[in-house]
Amino acid sequence: MSFDLVFFGGTGDLTWRKLMPALFQAFRHGKLPEGGRILAVARDEMPDERYREWLKERFREVDGSKRPTDEEFEKFGALLHYRRMDLSQPEHYQKLKDWLEERNADTAVLYLATSPHLFTQICEQLGAAGLNTPKIRIVLEKPLGQDLASAQQINKVVRSVFHESQAFRIDHYLGKPSVQNLMALRFGNALFEPLWRRESIANIQITLAESLGVGTRGPFYDQTGALRDMIQNHALQLLTMIAMEPPSTNDADAIRDEKLKVLRSLKPFTAESVARDVVRGQYRAGNVDGKAVVGYLDEGKIPAESETETFVALRTEVQNWRWAGVPFYLRTGKRLAARDAQIVVNFREVPHPIFHGANQANRLIIKLQPEDGLELQLLASKGSANGEALTPVSLDLDFDKAFASNRVGAYERLLLDAIAGRLNLFVRSDEQEQAWRWVEPILDAWKDDGIGPRHYNAGSWGPAAASALVARDGFSWAEEA
Ligand code: BG6
Repeated sequence: MSFDLVFFGGTGDLTWRKLMPALFQAFRHGKLPEGGRILAVARDEMPDERYREWLKERFREVDGSKRPTDEEFEKFGALLHYRRMDLSQPEHYQKLKDWLEERNADTAVLYLATSPHLFTQICEQLGAAGLNTPKIRIVLEKPLGQDLASAQQINKVVRSVFHESQAFRIDHYLGKPSVQNLMALRFGNALFEPLWRRESIANIQITLAESLGVGTRGPFYDQTGALRDMIQNHALQLLTMIAMEPPSTNDADAIRDEKLKVLRSLKPFTAESVARDVVRGQYRAGNVDGKAVVGYLDEGKIPAESETETFVALRTEVQNWRWAGVPFYLRTGKRLAARDAQIVVNFREVPHPIFHGANQANRLIIKLQPEDGLELQLLASKGSANGEALTPVSLDLDFDKAFASNRVGAYERLLLDAIAGRLNLFVRSDEQEQAWRWVEPILDAWKDDGIGPRHYNAGSWGPAAASALVARDGFSWAEEA
């Protein structure tokens, strides 16, 4: 299958840090369909050859084993092209059209790796130029909007130009092998399904912790904050996959219908419940991995008065028969104690304990990163004297070891799926809008609360209030247990 892949924002960070390295991996593993052309478009004028050199230089910053050798880059570089484009100029879209029609590939994937405020303009121009034929697909990077209204506005324009089946909205978490494994765990195995409900599960915790700070993304991050950056998309997508009903097929819409139902079942927030059930924090100076780091307000280009949250912990419920009353705790933050993304399913305690000592309840830990695995915590007897306390033991599965071959990275997976037209791992507009609808009362409540974020030291697990949020229900975060 021949394809053309066009990156708008061809010299931007996302393109060279994530997309090009992912494409190169696909190329190296022989997964990129033959007969592809890759076109980067951006504002500067430069011949193809200079772009290739520029990218080769950028690739030096890519993680060692993922870096191409000169010989590999030579071959990969042959697929690369570059064109200058002023995104406000209709004739530049015509030129793009000519370039695509020159070869008339089976499919053309147009990847908008630009700032989202350009999405509507680009889509309108693509439509006006007739660059919306059925074989064209459009990929939109998050964040899609700042709130419900702006997301709806983008979707409205996208829908007026493209059919929903042509729109690939990226949430790169969905491309992670560990996240795809969630579907396999739940719907490829009969073992857990009978237990996957309120009768057996006491609470579920989703943690997306990062040890990094905001780095060079200060201005973007300060406009965004952790709620928009991580909760509205990545954390909620994980929640839907954990809580959804089994879809009737593995097709994109069957899956996305079920995910949407979960989003619609989430307990809506009010100003009172935001005050009670949502904790926002901002990091102060501290130590991460043994190194002193500055606080958020001292990061580059952050306004001295900024109240942007770098941490959120919240409690919600999925209001349906399966999950009624089961707390779902979501937590994310920058400059936390570790880079650690995991979902912890805490089962209920045995109904009638007959052993002495702590009768610790079972726990399933779905590890998303840095390791990718599953840990099932059980209690066992060491075979010692009757009446002795049981011992916690774990069944521990490391997927990287279990699948020794190269596993496909998130962007690699998503780019290959976009080229192949598989929508399963992309977010539908109604899911995305529902997620904004749910998040918005939190943003509104924060605007007027006059309190601002709570402080936490870099290298900690966030403000103490996050622990209190869980303790209130008689639980604790996994690392505190
Ligand atoms: C991005 C956020 O979507 O996800 C970043 O904008 C965050 O702020 C990143 O660092 C985390 O992704 P990952 O794959 O490193 O967990």
